Amino acid sequence: MEKSLQLRSKITKSGQLEVSLVEVDVPTPGPGEVLVRMEAAPINPSDMGPMLGPADITAARLQSTEGRQVLTAPVPEARLAGAATRLDKDLPVGNEGAGTVVAAGSDPEAQELIGRTVGLLSGRSYAQYCCVPVASCLVLNEGTTAAEAASCFVNPLTALGMVETMKLDKHTGLVHTVAASNLGQMLIRLCLADDVPLVNIVRKAEQVELLRGLGAKHVCDSSQGSFLDDLTDAVAETGATLAFDAVGGGRLVNDVLFAMERAAGRTLTGHSTYGSAVFKQAYIYGGLDLSPTILNRTYGMSWSIGAWLLPQFLQRIGFERTAELRQRVADEITTTFASKFTKVLSLEEAITPENIRLYVAKKTGEKYLINPNKGL
Ligand SMILES: NC(=O)c1ccc[n+]([C@@H]2O[C@H](COP(=O)([O-])OP(=O)(O)OC[C@H]3O[C@@H](n4cnc5c(N)ncnc54)[C@H](OP(=O)(O)O)[C@@H]3O)[C@@H](O)[C@H]2O)c1
Repeated sequence: MEKSLQLRSKITKSGQLEVSLVEVDVPTPGPGEVLVRMEAAPINPSDMGPMLGPADITAARLQSTEGRQVLTAPVPEARLAGAATRLDKDLPVGNEGAGTVVAAGSDPEAQELIGRTVGLLSGRSYAQYCCVPVASCLVLNEGTTAAEAASCFVNPLTALGMVETMKLDKHTGLVHTVAASNLGQMLIRLCLADDVPLVNIVRKAEQVELLRGLGAKHVCDSSQGSFLDDLTDAVAETGATLAFDAVGGGRLVNDVLFAMERAAGRTLTGHSTYGSAVFKQAYIYGGLDLSPTILNRTYGMSWSIGAWLLPQFLQRIGFERTAELRQRVADEITTTFASKFTKVLSLEEAITPENIRLYVAKKTGEKYLINPNKGL
């Protein structure tokens, strides 16, 4: 049986993270499956939890075991309980990626894909080969490269999901935090294309410039003393009553709801002890700041905060609408849903402490790509 490499992550009961390259059999596709030679898989914030867990990466080092490099890092005892369900399990990693179909099962729709570039969502994309059902592949238009298609699921469908959620829940505008992220930049292009009012929140002056360069109309910088006033003006102008926040910790969600309430108050006549009747919804969809969420509840009694996750949203809209959104992503993967990558790493390069420290910083414009077949 032909062998190939796959990246795996394990947290031991004794409190050690081990990220290693293991040799696995190249899978044989079943009737409705295809075998994809992986050529590009992004390292998204959502991949870092499964890959690195709550380990102390500042103390990470490479060890050589049986001729292979293994990254090890201690997991502080206080954080081990949070990893209880995965202890001593050797887990594949990598949510999404793209590559070329090199073998297929007997079903005609599988056979048709041989030689095509496809994107996939597999949970094991940091591997030389992925074997997946045809239905889980996004078939890219001719001429699209694997690197262009690497991020064709998580961020594009989330950007589309935000706009869809807005429409389904009868809101008419959006507030988005961490707006300079890869996803944030996609959302700006999407909202411009679809004429959706969007208020972008960033935390640095240079990010304001970046987003204005993309055509963003409303960009509020949370590092400025005028932030709350700027945000209130932008919310009043756009009528945005739905927010998506990837920070999670601290006061940002609180500030957004407060600005929405102040904006609503501008058109309020009379006084109500319970604030305006305008319903304000904030979804926390990321955890870039792991500190507690601070809420002072100074925005009346017509608000809600919840969590938002792509798979749950796709379940909500169902198979047919998901297929339509996926087709739009395929058609606009080099425009609306384009991603930029700082550097392409091999599987081995992806687990050096130096590279890990670079990509866990999750800095604006510094997204890394793994080519699992680089150098092999
Ligand atoms: N819920 C879902 O289904 C779902 C789906 C897709 C993505 N997401 C989330 O969406 C977010 C963006 O993903 P991405 O791939 O677009 O990220 P990305 O391109 O890697 O960008 C990360 C961004 O986060 C900012 N950032 C990092 N730490 C921060 C902090 N503590 N406070 C505020 N900003 C911080 C960075 O800005 P600086 O340069 O200023 O550090 C950068 O702009 C992630 O949190 C991801 O988990 C969630």
